[in-house]
Amino acid sequence: MADNTWSRRHIISLEDFTANEYQTILQTATSFSEVLSRRTKKVPALQGQVITNLFFEPSTRTRSSFELAAKRLSADILNFSPGSSSLKKGETILDTAKTYLAMGTNLMVIRHQEAGVPTIIAQEMDRINSGVGILNAGDGQHAHPSQALLDLFTICNSLNPNNPHIEQLQGKKVVIVGDILHSRVARSNIWSLTTCGADVHLVAPPTLLPKHFLGAFKQPIRPDHTATTPPERKLYLHWQLEPALAGADFVMALRLQHERMSQHLLPSLREYHQQFGIDRERLKRCKPTVKIMHPGPTNRGVELTSDLMDDPELSLVPMQVTSGVATRMALLYLIGGVK
Ligand code: NCD
Repeated sequence: MADNTWSRRHIISLEDFTANEYQTILQTATSFSEVLSRRTKKVPALQGQVITNLFFEPSTRTRSSFELAAKRLSADILNFSPGSSSLKKGETILDTAKTYLAMGTNLMVIRHQEAGVPTIIAQEMDRINSGVGILNAGDGQHAHPSQALLDLFTICNSLNPNNPHIEQLQGKKVVIVGDILHSRVARSNIWSLTTCGADVHLVAPPTLLPKHFLGAFKQPIRPDHTATTPPERKLYLHWQLEPALAGADFVMALRLQHERMSQHLLPSLREYHQQFGIDRERLKRCKPTVKIMHPGPTNRGVELTSDLMDDPELSLVPMQVTSGVATRMALLYLIGGVK
């Protein structure tokens, strides 16, 4: 499974990822999901390596998913929680990271409420030639690459479970609805899905999707040697749900992130649900094969009706969680192999 073409030591944001890199991740994740379907679900790929989960912000699925991925690769895993750490005694984040480096950490998975923390730690690790790889598990509103990559794997897998390939995304309509302004998941998905050729439609009330939002995605697609690289990003903005849903292949709902809202940006949750909540009636505007997604955690009855989330014909939500482990195994394996 060795991949000699992979050269990134850190995965912080997907901004400059190429179609070819996405395809490598899909292929590697596919191999690991085959491993996870066996009776013995472990491979020795990272045996003897130390992976440290540095989570400065709460998390259920991302943290557990990285922990399980590390264990399935036979790595040793250390888990850091700020509540019971020396941060309380005034230690800086960089000193915390260096403490784990001194214990022999090879890869760090970092989540922080401030954008930029994984970048600063990666820069310091490179400056001192530590050889440590950094994986961003969510920093402020900036990026959440492993979530977008597991979403990509889930989408391609649902289109063709035998051979998930980014080419299947060409011309597919993906609607992202919800608190886009505060969402690192939306930002990372926009980079990956548009680079892979999907048509991405963003929908939210104007307070959660200001006009200038699109300005952040001007960066052209980095070409590579695959024939699949689309000429430009297809990214559209809507302030009304119904027209955006027309002909959609995938609808990704996002949580309203109250913890990141500095002012009252919505009249009420009831009103939000009335205008932007996904229910069966509204899904009739989409393709008959439409699938719904949500990165979790979900406010049932706000972003999506509860029955939709639990409908196995429509909902890819459990598949997103399952795909997360194979995808994160792929990411740890790929960056863990960079010398
Ligand atoms: C997301 C996050 O933390 O950014 N959740 C996740 O990682 N699965 C989305 C959210 O918190 O709403």
